[in-house]
Amino acid sequence: MNVLLRDDAIQSRVTELAAEIERDYPEGEEIHLVCVLKGGFVFMSDLIRAMTPRVTVDFIAVSSYAKSTKSSGEVRLLKDLDSGLEGRHVIIVEDIVDTGLTLTYLQDILRARSPKSLRTACLLSKPSRRQVEVTVEYIGFTIEDRFVVGYGLDYAEKYRNLSYIAVLDGQ
Ligand code: IMP
Ligand code: MG
Repeated sequence: MNVLLRDDAIQSRVTELAAEIERDYPEGEEIHLVCVLKGGFVFMSDLIRAMTPRVTVDFIAVSSYAKSTKSSGEVRLLKDLDSGLEGRHVIIVEDIVDTGLTLTYLQDILRARSPKSLRTACLLSKPSRRQVEVTVEYIGFTIEDRFVVGYGLDYAEKYRNLSYIAVLDGQ
């Protein structure tokens, strides 16, 4: 397994993103983070610990049916949020934007719930794989078209616990 992003590089970038987010929202207003399970949970847990107490969290889970390293394009809602989004500043927190299909689906269904604002934060982006244009305001790192694992990202549910990002062997 080849290390692509070391944990110290990830930590400092996440701290920068947290500071950027804090700057972008009016002081004192709540920022509601929606973590996309499962891949987004490690990124979100580091992100919120670099933010001020005005942050709140919720979780949503989707499946793209894909068991392989290729996304199938079909998205299904597996677990919905616990609370409503009306009038709130919402940020979707996702591990990686690949084809863009998952995020397009999520942005559409969450925007329909009338948040005050809706933005997206992704730790990683693979722009060369994009099938649909999708807006992501906060991107940690832009990477090449390689299948990566670690820091929340899995292959067949494994490697989510790595504190760094690695390229899977043979990719
Ligand atoms: P998209 O809908 O194609 O943008 O796919 C996004 C989802 O595919 C991510 O949330 C990941 O779960 C998964 N995915 C895409 N690329 C990778 C990767 O390199 N490693 C692990 N999971 C990935
Ligand atoms: Mg994911």
